[in-house]
Amino acid sequence: MSDSNKSMSKKICIITGATSGIGKETAFALAEKGGSVIVVSRNDKKCISTVKAIKKKTGNNHVDHISADLSDLKQVRNLARQLKEKYPCIDVLINNAGGYFKTRLETVDDYEMNFALNHLSPFLLTNLLIDNLKESSQGRIINVSSSAHFKGKIKFEDLQLQNDFNGFNAYAQSKLALTLFNHKLAEQLKDTNVTVNALHPGLVATNFGKNNGLLRFYVRRLLNKNEITPLEGSKTITYLASSAEVAEITGGYFEKEKNTKSSDNSYNQELSKKLWEVSETLTNVSS
Ligand SMILES: NC(=O)c1ccc[n+]([C@@H]2O[C@H](COP(=O)([O-])OP(=O)(O)OC[C@H]3O[C@@H](n4cnc5c(N)ncnc54)[C@H](OP(=O)(O)O)[C@@H]3O)[C@@H](O)[C@H]2O)c1
Repeated sequence: MSDSNKSMSKKICIITGATSGIGKETAFALAEKGGSVIVVSRNDKKCISTVKAIKKKTGNNHVDHISADLSDLKQVRNLARQLKEKYPCIDVLINNAGGYFKTRLETVDDYEMNFALNHLSPFLLTNLLIDNLKESSQGRIINVSSSAHFKGKIKFEDLQLQNDFNGFNAYAQSKLALTLFNHKLAEQLKDTNVTVNALHPGLVATNFGKNNGLLRFYVRRLLNKNEITPLEGSKTITYLASSAEVAEITGGYFEKEKNTKSSDNSYNQELSKKLWEVSETLTNVSS
């Protein structure tokens, strides 16, 4: 069910990873609905051209950008500082930037890349922006997870996967971590005006996985007939960001605009408490 055309008018919407794929489509959709959209991504030129394209297509001039490499926690802090200064009240934060790294890479902070980009980065950014989201009459945090999290295990004994690395397991661990974070944060914010929901966008034909080799990427694209378009893949994010139907839903996990169940592990309170504490230490969030 679609809301009225300009339902997001005056709402400050931050979207990470908005220069490609489902994040970009979401940015267009929220600008179309009148939102003030802040495109966040790592490539300044791509950010500028995305902003230009959104303004041109939607006629909405309230579109801005900040570039940051979100795998670098110092840059995440710097981004949060700029956002807090510019936008004392934030209505929507969409943690969408992410990736799948098949071979083991380390970030500048010496963390495993899947875990750092897909979990530690949104964990830190969200915690740093919480007070600004509480300023909104109805703040919404949206975490773009993946059904891969069903296969995830949190390896506390080797969280950075230095031994026995497997790319899919690393990605699955990072998305389970994000989903555990989603549910724990929703519980923490249950008496506030901020909701927190996660989603699986479907299998989407984006640039996802291109970094792991072009041949492999295009062969998979050719063989995979089940992929949906980025626009289709963005719909659940846009829905969670803008629909009145979900204004009071929190701690959910959505697929195709329906609240469904995430994995049993993702609701494990002991696991989420431990992961929260470890993530606090790794990101040094309270300093
Ligand atoms: N596609 C799928 O089938 C699928 C399925 C389940 C979940 N997901 C999730 O959906 C989300 C969006 O992925 P997508 O499919 O739209 O992929 P995509 O087309 O590759 O888009 C990813 C976005 O994240 C940005 N990004 C990547 N690394 C970054 C970094 N270090 N710092 C800042 N920004 C960074 C990219 O910037 P550039 O434009 O510069 O590359 C791009 O804007 C991810 O979290 C992914 O895990 C995707």
